[in-house]
Amino acid sequence: MSTSPQRNSLAIHIRRLAPRDADAAAELSGQLGYSCPSDDLRDRIDELSRSADRVAFAAVIGNQDGEIVGWIDAAMERHLQYAASAVIGGLVVREDMRGQGIGRRLCLEVEEWARSQSVSLVRVRSQIKREDAHRFYLRDGYRQVKTSLVFEKKVL
Ligand SMILES: CC(C)(COP(=O)(O)OP(=O)(O)OC[C@H]1O[C@@H](n2cnc3c(N)ncnc32)[C@H](O)[C@@H]1OP(=O)(O)O)[C@@H](O)C(=O)NCCC(=O)NCCS
Repeated sequence: MSTSPQRNSLAIHIRRLAPRDADAAAELSGQLGYSCPSDDLRDRIDELSRSADRVAFAAVIGNQDGEIVGWIDAAMERHLQYAASAVIGGLVVREDMRGQGIGRRLCLEVEEWARSQSVSLVRVRSQIKREDAHRFYLRDGYRQVKTSLVFEKKVL
């Protein structure tokens, strides 16, 4: 994880997301389109940080304790029919901080995490309406491999 100067001369630091980040992370989750209470997010971050198969990183301004301006989370997906892959489940950069390479750096951390676990593929599923994000992934070396419908059923 590294710190480097950004276009607007703010230094951005990438570190693991921690339960104490829940308030800021919840606000960003709202910008991603998933509003959720901070307490729920705190519990989820806590659970995630105890799993070897999951990871979340925060982009912060300045040092470790700086303001959070983005986060990414990923999980290993293991199925019978193909080799394990690391799947980005959520990625968001604060609206006023977009276009400065922060999203790219968060993706790089997940890619490094996948490599560290000898997993060679990173995958992300992105809603059809998120055209800006599609442009971002394509520019970042990802390629579109399929278009799917998503089905779900409540069981509780
Ligand atoms: C997609 C997202 C994470 C990219 O983060 P970022 O820090 O702006 O990305 P970078 O600065 O590394 O890369 C910039 C590229 O992202 C894309 N981008 C998407 N939305 C953008 C925005 N509002 N402002 C600037 N660039 C944006 C563009 O392709 C841009 O490349 P370009 O300058 O050549 O057009 C961020 O725009 C975001 O949080 N979007 C809303 C949530 C979202 O769609 N998340 C992805 C879910 S799958």
